[in-house]
Amino acid sequence: MKEKLLMPFAPVLVESTRSIGYSFETALADIIDNSVSNNARNVWVNFDTKDSPILAVIDDGRGMSKDELEAAMRYGSKSSLEIRDPKDLGRFGLGMKMASMSQCRKLTVVSKKNNSICGACWDLDYINSKGDWVLIEYSSDELKDTYCYNDLNEQKSGTIVLWEQFDRISSSSSNKSKVFDEKIEIARKHVSLVFHRFIDPEAIGQGISFYFNNERVVGIDPFLLSNPATQPLPEENIIINDQIIKVKPFVLPYASKLSKKDQNKLGEVDNLRQNQGFYIYRNKRLIIWGTWFRLVKQHELHKLARIRVDIPNTLDSIWEIDVKKSTANLPDIIKHRLVSLVENTIGSSEKVYKYRGRKTDDPNITHIWNVVDDRGQYHYVINRDSPLFKTLEDSIDEKDQGFFESFIQIVESSFPFEDVYFRLAKSDSGIHILSQKGEDEVYHNAVCMIEKLISINENVSVFIENMAKNDYFRKYPNVISKIKEEYK
Ligand SMILES: Nc1ncnc2c1ncn2[C@@H]1O[C@H](COP(=O)(O)OP(=O)(O)OP(=O)(O)O)[C@@H](O)[C@H]1O
Ligand SMILES: [Mg+2]
Repeated sequence: MKEKLLMPFAPVLVESTRSIGYSFETALADIIDNSVSNNARNVWVNFDTKDSPILAVIDDGRGMSKDELEAAMRYGSKSSLEIRDPKDLGRFGLGMKMASMSQCRKLTVVSKKNNSICGACWDLDYINSKGDWVLIEYSSDELKDTYCYNDLNEQKSGTIVLWEQFDRISSSSSNKSKVFDEKIEIARKHVSLVFHRFIDPEAIGQGISFYFNNERVVGIDPFLLSNPATQPLPEENIIINDQIIKVKPFVLPYASKLSKKDQNKLGEVDNLRQNQGFYIYRNKRLIIWGTWFRLVKQHELHKLARIRVDIPNTLDSIWEIDVKKSTANLPDIIKHRLVSLVENTIGSSEKVYKYRGRKTDDPNITHIWNVVDDRGQYHYVINRDSPLFKTLEDSIDEKDQGFFESFIQIVESSFPFEDVYFRLAKSDSGIHILSQKGEDEVYHNAVCMIEKLISINENVSVFIENMAKNDYFRKYPNVISKIKEEYK
């Protein structure tokens, strides 16, 4: 046996790793991950599309010394097996290099720490010409003309990650800057969603501001927590390898209850359906969303359901997180826990929809409540044609009729939709809350009505004949028989 040191050939390896599958926005998010992991309070994405596109991610984080920068530029700068700081969004020691080179041919990193500025560059053409892993290093003097250098220099510490020579855009499009602008727009939305818990300081306790060409990015909260009609369901903890995965379902308000602003946040109403499902966060950074992992079929009936799943970075191997941080596989050990959670809570949203969609025009039933479909917006109103209602109305003095009608309208308009939805979604069968009254009570109510009708000389027999059609009494055949017997 003999050993041979077989080094990868730099030009070929770098070129191949460019095609790992990053999109522009996932690549940019990977660079921003590094800023977030390294204590940035502000992250500026600056770009210029006029001549040849250029983009810089600048942060005011801890920055790197010359030695640290050199180590950071190495492909595989840290082992993926290393235990990371609980807030670190990195894992593989590859992201900064691979994400950048997937989009452009030249990556320059400039960093400031302890009043000293250093810079280094991977230039694919230079690597090709040298045929080896040759990193270009710059002195601070050589860096002065670098894009956004002054922005960094004004800060105590921080880092610039600079992308140049977007060959993939130029080869695929005649109008480079237009395509670049479109990519930027998608990336802006991506950042506002995947980092939304950092943008909202209340949610995470440490706020980070993101800017695109100095315009502040507004977070997109997929759970609409600021909307009081959003129903949070109880949080569950799943413990694996002594680590806690937090699972918290939310039921979003109906689309008709969303303000224009909230609708914009969630995207088109059609997106509600597409974006139902699990929202997986790794250290509060959204990794994947809008999927049920094939545990539950994506369905019209679940479209208001979103389940927040928080995983710590200590469980990366279990979730099989990938370098791009854009996919993760659900491990079997927690699959069954999530399945039962989905069935118990969200599955029953199906019942809610079915209930909403019940037939209201069945001629054999007199409903107490009517469901009114007002061009897709629903109201529940008390059926003023039901014999019960008429009895009550007739028994009220004329002078109190106005007050009575106002009271009924108040009751109707305060029908607790959200509470009903929430409780149905929470209960196993959805039936428990529609508690059946005891027969004695129902009998008492029937007698009370009949006596009232008698006292105002109304036709009792019609009332009794109609009891079997009445939404309330028809569920109690014994009571109906007893009444028929007594009042025949
Ligand atoms: N903005 C930054 N501020 C300070 N240090 C940084 C910054 N960006 C990168 N680094 C350093 O460079 C190292 C390499 O970054 P890189 O993204 O390549 O790998 P990683 O973040 O460790 O893991 P992953 O491949 O999962 O992203 C980081 O671990 C960090 O030490
Ligand atoms: Mg990284």
